Amino acid sequence: MKSLDLAKGGLHTQFSRPSWRSHIDKWLDAWMTSPAFYRWAIGNPITRWITRRRAAQLFQVMAGFVHSQVLLTCVRLRLLESLREGPQTLDALSQSCHMNPAAMQRLLHAAVSLRLLELRGPQLYGLGALGAPVAADVGLRLMIEHNAVLYEDMRDTLALLRDEMQPHMQAYWPYMNGDKPPSWEADKVARYSELMSNSQRFVIEELLASYDFSQHRCVMDVGGGQGGWITALGQHHSDVQLMLFDLPPVAALAKARFEANGLGARATAHGGSFISDPLPKGADLVTLVRVAHDHPDATVKALLKSIFQALPTGGMLLLAEPMAEATGAHSVGDAYFHFYLLAMGSGRLRSPQELKNLLAEAGFASVVDVANPMPLHTRLLLAQKN
Ligand SMILES: C[S@@+](CC[C@H](N)C(=O)[O-])C[C@H]1O[C@@H](n2cnc3c(N)ncnc32)[C@H](O)[C@@H]1O
Repeated sequence: MKSLDLAKGGLHTQFSRPSWRSHIDKWLDAWMTSPAFYRWAIGNPITRWITRRRAAQLFQVMAGFVHSQVLLTCVRLRLLESLREGPQTLDALSQSCHMNPAAMQRLLHAAVSLRLLELRGPQLYGLGALGAPVAADVGLRLMIEHNAVLYEDMRDTLALLRDEMQPHMQAYWPYMNGDKPPSWEADKVARYSELMSNSQRFVIEELLASYDFSQHRCVMDVGGGQGGWITALGQHHSDVQLMLFDLPPVAALAKARFEANGLGARATAHGGSFISDPLPKGADLVTLVRVAHDHPDATVKALLKSIFQALPTGGMLLLAEPMAEATGAHSVGDAYFHFYLLAMGSGRLRSPQELKNLLAEAGFASVVDVANPMPLHTRLLLAQKN
């Protein structure tokens, strides 16, 4: 059961708070929830500033579902892409979006308030600071559209948490329905592989910026999808041999990509299931990018052992995926990834320490964090086989 797996994994079990804090916490909880507190907090300039900031943050949390739907609407209308060419008037936008001017203006005002758009003159709208990256990146736009599946599953979050519904997200990811070739239908496999490939750009930037791959002779990407990462690696490091392992229909897509990019002689794509097949040997570095979080602990343990066996002594594993904050607080992506992975099926967001424990159980002697510029997209762990 999903919930049991998360509880057993003990996301917050490493977190401890000194016992003396509990008395202070109890007093603070009572004070901050009393009507007198609010009156006091807005009554003087310093606490008023903190209260205003917290009220704004809480409002953002409460209204988040509206904000994400405004973003989705802008993406579906191709509004942000069209403003890349330059600002447009309300009339022009209402005509191209087939919407009456009053409705269009409502959407535009909402998008300006979220900094997706910017007012550039009377009734003239251009790209805003948060709209520009969306306009520039097809992967981001595809993920925003794909999030509609998660939105559907979160209509009844209680049923989702209690395992009382069949999430749409599980149907989207065919490998969540068992380790069986019939469930790997070509169109479904191609659909998610395309999404992964398009959304991988930011992760590829993190990998290339954070680790020196030229020290390796041969790199194998396990669960490598259509081969976007391995292709980029091959283009940056011309001396490295390249391997990829994924489900047979996905490996076939990767093979075609390698050939199309002139890497046919240097890159091999191996089809199989890491649940039931051994991994090919030959690489001195394995990369595991956005794969472990899809699977329950038992599968991840077996996969890490299988990688350990495929590596030579001294070989390395670089694991890259979003990871949970140890205390769960102040993390930008945790709430999203916890629920995405719940809807997807049997995986979960793990903290770096939980992944280090799984790597140690698989036999890896040393595991270290690798610092990277944007931990929101992914964090990195490097493990070595001694
Ligand atoms: C979330 S995608 C990540 C793809 C790619 N690494 C990336 O970051 O874009 C997970 C990948 O693991 C592959 N996968 C899932 N189960 C697998 C299995 N049992 N054996 C081999 N590959 C599997 C999927 O086909 C998919 O390509």
